[in-house]
Amino acid sequence: MTRILTGITSNNTPHLGNILGAIAPAIELSKQPNSESFFFIADLHSLISQKNAALRVDSVNAIAATWLAFGFDTQKNVFYRQSRVPQVCELTWYLNCFTPYPMLANAHSFKDKSGKLSDVNSGLFTYPVLMAADILLYDAHFVPVGKDQIQHLEITCDIAAAFNHQYGKEIFVLPKAKIDEQVMTIPGIDGQKMSKSYNNFINIFLPEKELKKVVMSIVSDSTPLEAPKNPDTDNTFALYKVIASKEQSETMRQNYLKGGYGYGHAKTALYELILDTYKEPRNEFDRLMKNTSLLEKELQTGEAKASKIADEKLKQVREVLGF
Ligand code: ADP
Ligand code: TRP
Repeated sequence: MTRILTGITSNNTPHLGNILGAIAPAIELSKQPNSESFFFIADLHSLISQKNAALRVDSVNAIAATWLAFGFDTQKNVFYRQSRVPQVCELTWYLNCFTPYPMLANAHSFKDKSGKLSDVNSGLFTYPVLMAADILLYDAHFVPVGKDQIQHLEITCDIAAAFNHQYGKEIFVLPKAKIDEQVMTIPGIDGQKMSKSYNNFINIFLPEKELKKVVMSIVSDSTPLEAPKNPDTDNTFALYKVIASKEQSETMRQNYLKGGYGYGHAKTALYELILDTYKEPRNEFDRLMKNTSLLEKELQTGEAKASKIADEKLKQVREVLGF
């Protein structure tokens, strides 16, 4: 049985880029036979930058509702909050003592963020060790992540190998990063990569009126309505294309090329396409967000499964460490 594991830090509501780039492909992967997927909400990691408890809870609920609304099978798999399996904190301490200080000090993500953030706390520094514990606690074989996380996987393997070597036993499985090269980068409403950091994202779960406002604010040039337009340089078309069928995209391309079709028309068509394509997930998301006890129930079931596995692994680890 292959174990697949990945986490999403709870500091926002997932946007279209997160859904198409990470959540939907992970859910597809979880359908493989002879595999078991551990998908969790990295709420302990979120504390590094998010100190507001209410915002964290909102984000945890929104992330959980998104996975469920897009059809993640919580019976076959394991769905949980990182903080509700606190065994991970104990393992983090042990792993800290096997992590050379320069390995963390030289990590790209730390160097990059510590140069930009005003709050450079120790959590930011030891973040890769908590991530290693997330993975090693569950003997994960594959970890689907974005390219920015590859170094964290290498750190995880280095820590695991150092630990295994010290005790002459394969206590930890060395995981492999799973990078999906086919996943495209979804553009934001300004044409840059869609990201919460650039505030250019589309939250597909917004109420209709607000969603329409966001879609209508997509940046376009000033080509007049009557003139033909270049679909390949336009942000609205770029977004339309990632959601639409081939036929729909081709029709839209022809609309651009023939002229007499304004950006306003294209944005309205994109808005309607989003409503149509995501009708079911939108309804399901609303239902779950209005009744968070349903989310709680799903998560608690996963947390009980995860906790059992974590206890077994920790027992092994304590034994070799003499605790
Ligand atoms: P953000 O850039 O909004 O902060 P994160 O870095 O938290 O997003 O990304 C969470 C996951 O979503 C990662 O796996 C990342 O690769 C994926 N992702 C984020 N933005 C995009 C995008 N614009 N296109 C495709 N995938 C994305
Ligand atoms: N660090 C990851 C990110 O920011 C989130 C994460 C935490 C994670 N623990 C993990 C991802 C373990 C994969 C495996 O995207």
